[in-house]
Amino acid sequence: MPIAKEAGSIILSYLDRNKNTEHKGDINLVTAADKESEKYIVENLQRLFPDDTIIAEEGHEKQGSSEYLWIIDPLDGTTSFAHNFPFFAVSIAMYNKENIPLLGVVYNPFFNEYFEASKGGGAFLNQKVISVTKTEKASNSLIGTGFPYDRREKMKFILDRLSRVLFVVHDVRRTGSAALDICYVAAGRLDAYYEEGLNPWDTAAAYCILLEAGGIASKFNNDQFDIYYPEIIASNKLIHNEIKEIVS
Ligand code: IPD
Ligand code: CA
Ligand code: CA
Repeated sequence: MPIAKEAGSIILSYLDRNKNTEHKGDINLVTAADKESEKYIVENLQRLFPDDTIIAEEGHEKQGSSEYLWIIDPLDGTTSFAHNFPFFAVSIAMYNKENIPLLGVVYNPFFNEYFEASKGGGAFLNQKVISVTKTEKASNSLIGTGFPYDRREKMKFILDRLSRVLFVVHDVRRTGSAALDICYVAAGRLDAYYEEGLNPWDTAAAYCILLEAGGIASKFNNDQFDIYYPEIIASNKLIHNEIKEIVS
């Protein structure tokens, strides 16, 4: 079974028992499932690719000698998971040292949805080809977003931006998993998604899937998206400029 699916089973096994939820910050949670999923993924990638570099959210870091880098979020959507809200996922990406996405897998074990892409090979959901929507106007769109963990300090900016978006679009959705939000743009379930305060493990795999599904991503100011920069607008391409104008 693929590593992300095994990790997903580990996460699911914690759904109906004590999750040992701890606080990493005021409202930033971590559970036993995050830790066990990460341990499983890292051990297996290290065994299979001992020369590669690894970056994982819950602390596993290893500098390798090869040109490949694995970027892992063992459980994206911990707050959703901790509350039994079924939007959470395992996210595993492989990049090269030039920061080019080569491989991305995002797996939601609750819905058994496995999103995957490799550079030049297309994007898939449970082995079926996916692509972004053809929506041409923001006024006809459904938009995803998220709210950063330091939102208490940024509340006014976040709400101002959200109110501008809400004024224009059909509606807004917040799943609690950035990786799934971006995959939902890739799969044509959302027309665009924006968020600030992100880390590379939130976006790395889903960005690869988005590109292969015909989508694009940028920073809020329309500069080239970079997984090491904390903000993203991901879209179907057609409404990107309009969403960028509203968000920025
Ligand atoms: C979080 C989720 C959430 C986003 C946060 C992320 P985590 O990741 O992706 O949707 O709003 O900014 O940090 O902490 O659940 O892995
Ligand atoms: Ca995350
Ligand atoms: Ca996480």
